[in-house]
Amino acid sequence: MSSPDELLRIEGVRKAFPGVVALDEVDFDLRRGEVHVLLGENGAGKSTLIKVLSGAHRPDRGRVLVRGEEVVIRDAQDAARLGIATIYQEFNLVPDVTVAENIFLGRQPRRFGLIDHRRMEAEAALLLDRVGVDVSPRAKVRGLGIAQLQMVEIAKALSLDAGILIMDEPTAVLTTEEVERLFAIARRLRDEGVGIVFITHHLEEIAALGDRVTVLRDGRSIDRVAASTPQDELVRLMVGRDIEEQYPRERPEAGEPLLSVRGLTRAGRFHDIDLDVRAGEVVGLAGLVGAGRTEVARAVFGADPYDSGTVEVLGRRLPGGDVNAAMGAGLGLVPEDRKGQGLVLDASVEENLGLVTLGPTSRVGFVDLAGQRASARRIAGELGVRMSGIDQHVRTLSGGNQQKVVIGKWLLADSKVLILDEPTRGVDAGAKVEIYRLVNELTASGHAVLMISSDLPEVLGMSDRILVMAQGRVTGELSAEEATQDAVMSLAVATDPEENVVEGRNGH
Ligand SMILES: Nc1ncnc2c1ncn2[C@@H]1O[C@H](COP(=O)(O)OP(=O)(O)OP(=O)(O)O)[C@@H](O)[C@H]1O
Ligand SMILES: [Mg+2]
Repeated sequence: MSSPDELLRIEGVRKAFPGVVALDEVDFDLRRGEVHVLLGENGAGKSTLIKVLSGAHRPDRGRVLVRGEEVVIRDAQDAARLGIATIYQEFNLVPDVTVAENIFLGRQPRRFGLIDHRRMEAEAALLLDRVGVDVSPRAKVRGLGIAQLQMVEIAKALSLDAGILIMDEPTAVLTTEEVERLFAIARRLRDEGVGIVFITHHLEEIAALGDRVTVLRDGRSIDRVAASTPQDELVRLMVGRDIEEQYPRERPEAGEPLLSVRGLTRAGRFHDIDLDVRAGEVVGLAGLVGAGRTEVARAVFGADPYDSGTVEVLGRRLPGGDVNAAMGAGLGLVPEDRKGQGLVLDASVEENLGLVTLGPTSRVGFVDLAGQRASARRIAGELGVRMSGIDQHVRTLSGGNQQKVVIGKWLLADSKVLILDEPTRGVDAGAKVEIYRLVNELTASGHAVLMISSDLPEVLGMSDRILVMAQGRVTGELSAEEATQDAVMSLAVATDPEENVVEGRNGH
């Protein structure tokens, strides 16, 4: 039954957690020399499935066959022995040792009982060369950018001679250029016979890289199609219905400026930033990763200091570097780094949703618990947070559902001005539209939204005006009518070498 090209076969795998069946009767197979895409909504079971393959979870039922033989994968070592390498979104690298040591962790070449550093570094250099990344084997992992970390993970996979490479949303945090590089490497490995399991929420990447697609819905493998299947068809399979309109922006009449920033400057980071966001407006902040958008957002919110300039919210000047003052004035920020800054992982969905409204240091004398619960339920429902209940710990939610909770928490806080930094990163196609609808509701009721996004179609589809940043400066402003991909991109790469305020920085 199994062909010589079959690397991996999963039959009838089930995995339940308390309150949720994450995988139910899942079938999947992977051949030599193919990229097999796992597609599904947030919480469909994609990460759980690859954790079964990497030894992080044991299935309750079902069979896993590697190269035709049934196997039990107990831990990461078992997976490595079977030639299965997994690149998680949270990397497994050790920050304070060198790249070479990370690649050979636990199996460093030895000479007279000691680690043979010369040989290890030479071998690491060969592997890094094979993935085409310009990183020294002696560099410390801590200083690397996300794309480089990913390349080191891939080099590590190569060193294990992994015939099976699994990547969980590798492109979510990469720039367009970095994605191209990753794809080039993936194609080369595929041509060398490696089988690749690839997870993404960016539908356009499926036809670009994939060969076959397995669609997971509610923990079941419901279909297998060619990667060339049209996107709307893929969405229909994944969500179980059509999504009529991708960017449902309704543009209300803009009112008074609610957020005004003048001359905001932080030496070496950003320079002379002016921006206004009016009631009812969505202003997009576009630019390449590293252009300084997140830094500006954090400074405006008071999470980072600035050197000069002013920030006003509803006509009130904010003191610099004071998040509580910013929140008190009606400003909210959904941060880019949501795991680190947006969530308390060991608290429940309800508690996380209540974080801004109540605050851990709330001075409110009593808390309307029933009301809090009701509004938490409502917003979780609107965003379609997939959970066993409002008491589930956020740590055990799927990646995309964690994102929805951070966004929901700020929506509940009813901030007059909301800064959204990459709001739909890691969010599936259906939930994206729900987030856009909520943005519409906010602006229709007079709120102002500043939206940072690297997803150009999203910026174009949702913004009423777009400011473009390059190298720490605003290089231009476009109205919704003027804005095209090309217009934004040419401003995003507009640089004046004499005026570079940001040098060699990596946006991560
Ligand atoms: N350790 C756990 N304990 C309880 N429930 C869990 C655990 N891990 C995952 N789940 C649940 O299993 C389901 C599937 O989650 P999984 O992370 O596999 O989704 P996913 O398809 O990777 O989604 P995303 O696109 O958001 O990353 C979710 O409902 C999630 O809450
Ligand atoms: Mg996942």
